Amino acid sequence: MSRKKDKMKNTDFMKGLKNLGIKDRRQIEIFMYIMTNTDPNTNLFIGTYKKISYELGCSEATIAKVMKALQDHKYLTRMQNGVWLVDQSKMYGDDVPASGITEVDLQSIMDGLEVYQNEEEPEEKKEAAPKYKTAEANGQFEFSMIGDMKLNSEKIKMKVPIVEMDGDEMTRVIWKMIKEELLLPFIDLKTEYYDLGLEKRDETADQITKDAAEAIKKYGVGVKCATITPNKARVEEYHLKDMYKSPNGTIRAILDGTVFRAPIMVNGIDPYVKTWKKPITIARHAYGDLYSASEMSIPGKGKAELVFTAEDGTEERKLIKEFDRPGILQGQHNLDSSITSFARSCFNYALETKQSLWFSAKDTISKIYDHHFKDVFQEVYEKEYKDAFEKAGIEYFYTLIDDAVARVIKSEGGFIWACKNYDGDVMSDMVATAFGALAMMTSVLVSPDGKYEFEAAHGTVQRHFYKYRDGEKTSTNSVATIFAWTGALNKRGQLDGNEALCDFASKLETAVIETIEAGKMTKDLSLITTIEDPEVLDTEEFIQAVKANLMKKL
Ligand SMILES: NC(=O)c1ccc[n+]([C@@H]2O[C@H](COP(=O)([O-])OP(=O)(O)OC[C@H]3O[C@@H](n4cnc5c(N)ncnc54)[C@H](O)[C@@H]3O)[C@@H](O)[C@H]2O)c1
Repeated sequence: MSRKKDKMKNTDFMKGLKNLGIKDRRQIEIFMYIMTNTDPNTNLFIGTYKKISYELGCSEATIAKVMKALQDHKYLTRMQNGVWLVDQSKMYGDDVPASGITEVDLQSIMDGLEVYQNEEEPEEKKEAAPKYKTAEANGQFEFSMIGDMKLNSEKIKMKVPIVEMDGDEMTRVIWKMIKEELLLPFIDLKTEYYDLGLEKRDETADQITKDAAEAIKKYGVGVKCATITPNKARVEEYHLKDMYKSPNGTIRAILDGTVFRAPIMVNGIDPYVKTWKKPITIARHAYGDLYSASEMSIPGKGKAELVFTAEDGTEERKLIKEFDRPGILQGQHNLDSSITSFARSCFNYALETKQSLWFSAKDTISKIYDHHFKDVFQEVYEKEYKDAFEKAGIEYFYTLIDDAVARVIKSEGGFIWACKNYDGDVMSDMVATAFGALAMMTSVLVSPDGKYEFEAAHGTVQRHFYKYRDGEKTSTNSVATIFAWTGALNKRGQLDGNEALCDFASKLETAVIETIEAGKMTKDLSLITTIEDPEVLDTEEFIQAVKANLMKKL
């Protein structure tokens, strides 16, 4: 033992760290950060979890843990959001210089703490590195773990990176937890990282969102965390330079994709519709119609016409209405190229998932607009997909939207329902709710040339984030975000012929489902489950329960 280690282990400072439960480098770094950034005159430390996380590159969950310990032991008192009063006499041990601690000191503290803990802990209490089995490659073999982390050489390798898009608020917190607890210990994870958190989008005038979409075009697979779409309140809250567009809208516009939303089905979280036994996937056309319509208020008497002026100046006119009193007017459009892409994405996804495809519109009333959608789908089907569908034993059919709604309710599920933009918007929320919970809905954007972007269908769970930021416990459901990752890993595995990666993704999904079916779940699910006496877990506990299950399978 070096003299330095000897010295460090005896300080009050070291004892203080131990009492706080601070034992690894990350936690010590957070502690040091607070020490060195506290104003010696006012005893105030100013820093939000997000800022500390950004500066130190550690998870907000770890910061929350350290902050909670510091508050519990009265080292810190929260004054207001991001402002803390520090008891400096508690923070500093007798031999710590007031100017803070250098990198060299940090290493000696790490060494000292290790010695301190080893000496304090009786030998028999120390756990041997556990051994787990894995069914990797061609057979079963054993590997050792350091803590719960596989040795680098034994982790599942990846050839091509996944485009990783980080996000905002509570989903950003669970994003880090999922990576740290469920992915990095087992996979030599290769990602190309884009921070789509609102601060970074503001810093880059939203260029980072466009870069991320281009990266998905390049690599083929992306996974996205939920992000804030700024409104007026958010512009004020984050002091934004602009009210940026929805990142999802920007990415969709660049990839020209279709969004497929499917529920994650679990025994014990039963659909409200009793006949539904299998998932219903909604494919929503994400271009045009109501979402890019031009609208007008009509003040009084007058004539409204649709006018198309061709490039050569010729005009085509159609009467909309001779107004004899005030009213309203709306003009919608769509493009053949977009409808064709939508149709192809739906047919490809149906073949890939071996599910029949339904498409519905209102062609009996909208004899040109909706009828055109129907015709494009039929033509693309006949020319490009009919044989493949017959071979796969699946079918395509068109029906009126009102008939589709009635059939969906009476069906047992297990098909894809392609909807025009507005119908898809409304129906996907209806289907998600009827299946049980918004946080159990996956979403994948598929472009006509086979690029994939996976995400959870829900938002950033703002209310939970504010609680978390204040050091309170949350019970946020991470299932759809975990499934976004498994969807991306599985797709990457399929494209690269990486069976081990696909196998891991499938085991992680099973681990999640079995955890819930064993009665361990977050609060949102506990309120709707048919399982008796569910064990309600907080955000971290649920991820740990999934991890414990996963490790049994590897
Ligand atoms: N895909 C996306 O990136 C996306 C989608 C929707 C909303 N948003 C953004 O998210 C923010 C919040 O929006 P919102 O409140 O309308 O939607 P939200 O999905 O975050 O929350 C809606 C409701 O569902 C609950 N909920 C959602 N996910 C949950 C989970 N995982 N666990 C437990 N409860 C959950 C919330 O507590 C809330 O009551 C907004 O800034 C919005 O712009 C992003």
